[in-house]
Amino acid sequence: MFDASPPVGSPTWTVSTTMSLESRMDRRKLFLGLGWLGVLLGGVGSGLFMLVRFLFPRVLYEPPTRFKAGALSNYPPDPTGKIKVYETFKTSERVWIVHGDDPTTGKHGIYSLLAVCTHLGCTPRWLENEAKFKCPCHGTGFYAYGVNFEGPAPRPLEKLDLRVEDGELVIDKAKTYRWERGEWERPGSIIETPRPIV
Ligand code: FES
Repeated sequence: MFDASPPVGSPTWTVSTTMSLESRMDRRKLFLGLGWLGVLLGGVGSGLFMLVRFLFPRVLYEPPTRFKAGALSNYPPDPTGKIKVYETFKTSERVWIVHGDDPTTGKHGIYSLLAVCTHLGCTPRWLENEAKFKCPCHGTGFYAYGVNFEGPAPRPLEKLDLRVEDGELVIDKAKTYRWERGEWERPGSIIETPRPIV
């Protein structure tokens, strides 16, 4: 019978073993190469991510605190001499514009009150017939010029800085004036106007 298997130690076996070793080494090199490529791509990716974060930082945009409230003539005094409250910017800015006396300082003029109750921050309502602000949450009442007289709020409403720029009233909600600190005497808290003769 003819034996087809190669004799042990023949050149055929040597070649096959050598090829197998080479192929395993090639595969190892391939895996190593892929590993390095992964590291490289990871590095490039995180570098690009940092670059994008640097070029487009996450910024919180705060709404502007100053707003234009139009000409002073938009806020005439009440012809009967009462304190006149304008609610033009109550919804959009939580601000009342008031024209009239301020009995706490003895001045007369235009001033603005922040429509935030000094108890727990609800928005009071202006009750024209009763000439007072009334907080719907726990019942604090404030006179038209901002001083509290009933309910749990511990202090008057806050006034806001106002001035005239290019003929327009500009109110800055970032700058407040508190009665209990004596700040209602400060110039920015009121624009004085002539007291009407009734
Ligand atoms: S929040 Fe106005 S009385 Fe409490």
